[in-house]
Amino acid sequence: MAVTTKLYLASLVALLAVLATATDGSPELSATYYKKTCPNVQNVVRTVMAHRVASEPRMSPAILRLFFHDCFVNGCDASLLLDRTDDMESEKDAVPTNVSLDGFDVIDEIKSALEHNCPATVSCADILALASRDAVALLGGPSWSVPLGRKDSLYASKDAAENDLPNPHGDLGDLLKSFEEHGLDARDLTALSGAHTIGKAHSCENYRDRVYGGEGANIIDPSFAERRRQSCEEGSGEAPFDEETPMVFDNSYFQDLIAQRGLLTSDQELYTHGGPVSDLVKMYAMHGETFFADFAKAMVKMGSIRPPQWMQAEVRLNCRVVNH
Ligand code: HEM
Ligand SMILES: *[C@@H]1O[C@H](CO)[C@@H](O)[C@H](O)[C@H]1NC(C)=O
Repeated sequence: MAVTTKLYLASLVALLAVLATATDGSPELSATYYKKTCPNVQNVVRTVMAHRVASEPRMSPAILRLFFHDCFVNGCDASLLLDRTDDMESEKDAVPTNVSLDGFDVIDEIKSALEHNCPATVSCADILALASRDAVALLGGPSWSVPLGRKDSLYASKDAAENDLPNPHGDLGDLLKSFEEHGLDARDLTALSGAHTIGKAHSCENYRDRVYGGEGANIIDPSFAERRRQSCEEGSGEAPFDEETPMVFDNSYFQDLIAQRGLLTSDQELYTHGGPVSDLVKMYAMHGETFFADFAKAMVKMGSIRPPQWMQAEVRLNCRVVNH
């Protein structure tokens, strides 16, 4: 009898332990996560970023976008960085984003510098989070303290990469819904969209609906529309989001929206329907410092989107392949 009770208790304790790790297996992220194991991590990332962005400024928007795409597809777990293998598709091949994602080699460069400094310690997911913060700061944007301690996934999902990102042709309702599904509210959506104050679209397909008009299209500044139709017809289709200062992280994205010069339908939708989101656009257009503070806060929030299979994770030695 006593033995049975003991066994029973033992298995109950074991069960509780399993339940505890299942619900609590993802430790809180912390800004000091590498304090003992890799005290230099922030300097190493910043040094490589500063060097690369100085020679190729476009790497800055490219990397900020990588972080967004990583976090929205099964959490911030560097799944986006995995190359295709015989057994697994790559999120890099997801349509239509496969055409224009860039900056992977910058992440590789940071990773090899870190493997040199503190081998097998810093996750690729954390590298993306730090590099994005530096990307923004290097172009004049805000900086913030980045919570760390993410792990790298063993899996990538091309399907999820094709389904879980917001649609550039979507309306405000679609955008709010997509962000809400990722635990982000209307204020996060509005602030994070301000990332489009830097960089460009690489293909007319992303903004054709916006600049050729048609039924139900939002109001657009006619001369802006004309210039963008030219980039569709005469050029490669490349077009800056913010025409005046495409490589400065400032609040002019929101001023552009007020002037009906948002590039994507999903950009202009933030200032089409009135209400709280339009009010935020107006406020950010007027108060750059409030935009910066909200952007930083929302980046930390987006950066803490958890992968569903936290337990099956590791610190990758090479960001493009799993360890075994
Ligand atoms: C609100 C929903 C969003 C939609 C529909 C969207 C869509 C797009 C599209 C279609 C492009 C152009 C792709 C190309 O042709 O190369 C783009 C570029 C970009 N996106 Fe977004 N995006 C959204 C939110 C975000 C967020 C939250 C961030 C980061 C915090 C972000 C960062 C960027 C950056 C920096 C670029 C420029 C990339 C470059 O210059 O290489 N986007 N986005
Ligand atoms: C993107 O994917 C499509 C469909 O698989 C393919 O036809 C196209 O060549 C790819 N583009 C690039 C640049 O990889």
